[in-house]
Amino acid sequence: MTRVHVVYAHPGGRSFTHKVLGTFLDALGASGHTATVSDLYAMGFRSVLTLEEYERESSYAADTPVPADVAAEHDRLDAAEVWAFIYPVWWADCPAVLKGWFDRVWTVGFAYKPTVRRARKALVLCTAGYSVEELEASGVHAAMRTTMLTDRIGDRAGSSDFVVFGSRVTGDGDAAERWAATKARHLSEVAAIARSI
Ligand SMILES: Cc1cc2nc3c(=O)[nH]c(=O)nc-3n(C[C@H](O)[C@H](O)[C@H](O)COP(=O)(O)O)c2cc1C
Repeated sequence: MTRVHVVYAHPGGRSFTHKVLGTFLDALGASGHTATVSDLYAMGFRSVLTLEEYERESSYAADTPVPADVAAEHDRLDAAEVWAFIYPVWWADCPAVLKGWFDRVWTVGFAYKPTVRRARKALVLCTAGYSVEELEASGVHAAMRTTMLTDRIGDRAGSSDFVVFGSRVTGDGDAAERWAATKARHLSEVAAIARSI
């Protein structure tokens, strides 16, 4: 049994990204794993640093207490062996609320100075409008992967993986059928990832 903490950022309950979350959680449960979720939109997570938080980080004041909502995120992360981040690609990165989550939750003393391993594994699962091939050709895939895995996860997890579920098809003709087939393939891959956690 593995304990997984999911950090989820999407506002819509009828979105494909929400289906990815549901499929991931269902497959975890069916495999005997347990999960907690920080649903950042549902929580109304504040995503901007206050001046006090900025001053704590910029002066490396690790002994200064962090805000209660940040401490609660630290506790959820430390209670899990695996972390998963599930979100849509918006303008070649994560939604602003998740960027702000890193700004606020990756605090000195928790995420750096010192940087210590806090999880066995970190998974980044994102949905995208472009296909993986298009994102690779533009360089955006490598940029997002580097930002998430090299910088934000780094040595904080023993291993990490970055998976994009892309190709949301738009346009005429059989676009809806093609997207339905792609979506089904994506969701079975999501379930397989959860089972092999
Ligand atoms: C504000 C916004 C920005 C987006 N930017 C990108 C982008 O930079 N690259 C991309 O591949 N898709 C982009 N998309 C498409 C979404 O990634 C895609 O629709 C989503 O992952 C799957 O749809 P969902 O909202 O139903 O979960 C963007 C969508 C929105 C709403």
